Amino acid sequence: GDHEARVLRMVMFGKPGSGKGTLSSRLAKKYDVLSLSTGDLLRQHIAERTAVGQQAEGIVAQGGLVPDEIMLQVVSSKLDALRNRHWILDGFPRTLNQGKLLDTHLEAQNTPLSLVVNLDVADEVILSRISDRWVHLPSGRIYNMSYNRPKVDGLDDETGEPLAKRPDDNPEIFAHRLKQFHESTSPLISYYASKPKSARMVTLQGQTSDEIWPKLEAVVRSSFPNLRETAAARR
Ligand code: AP5
Repeated sequence: GDHEARVLRMVMFGKPGSGKGTLSSRLAKKYDVLSLSTGDLLRQHIAERTAVGQQAEGIVAQGGLVPDEIMLQVVSSKLDALRNRHWILDGFPRTLNQGKLLDTHLEAQNTPLSLVVNLDVADEVILSRISDRWVHLPSGRIYNMSYNRPKVDGLDDETGEPLAKRPDDNPEIFAHRLKQFHESTSPLISYYASKPKSARMVTLQGQTSDEIWPKLEAVVRSSFPNLRETAAARR
């Protein structure tokens, strides 16, 4: 109904390094939206050496895709906790099968997706960004030495802890991750474009630092006018 239409249930979709994590966390910082990154969840599982983490570790390190059954295990309990909230999924779905599983799950709860954002960034642009990326592994906070520098080089702004390079950000592994995207993930674009009654898909293009953010914010604000800013953003 009309009320349902105004709940943000969004998939942030795009190549590795297209800016999914950066833009999702900007939205979650400014608006009352929860953001869930499957990459961050997997890195936590790996750090805590859970059963899922042990199965995923080698696959993530090589830039492969973790099997759909394991991914469903990782996200399904989290999805239930997002009911009645505005939310963003970053990094899921990543295969056609994951997309269909997600729709089935959400439709059964009568909480279908309301927006798919497809970040369209050229491979060459992405490759140069990745060499500049540093992360705070415990929180998933992302920095970039040319676009979004930490206040002190090498240290996380909030905790002061050291930043690290992701082990899967070396050029060979990254090339494999891009190949995986083109082979296994990109079919989701025509899936979302062709589903007649599904969520609106918006493709955003951009190269330079702050080109995509204002476009994304305009789409979200106009489609979900009842989205509130967080206290931190209003200050
Ligand atoms: P995941 O962590 O999801 O990695 P990814 O999709 O490869 O995405 P990235 O985190 O590399 O990039 P991003 O798009 O978030 O870009 P970012 O904002 O950092 O997954 C890791 C692994 O886990 C996968 O390889 C797979 O093995 C496994 N996995 C996860 N989910 C799975 C699933 N559903 N199924 C199966 N396996 C799964 O930005 C990149 C850089 O660019 C940064 O340095 C940033 O500062 C900079 N930047 C961002 N925006 C801009 C901008 N507008 N201008 C300039 N620079 C920018």
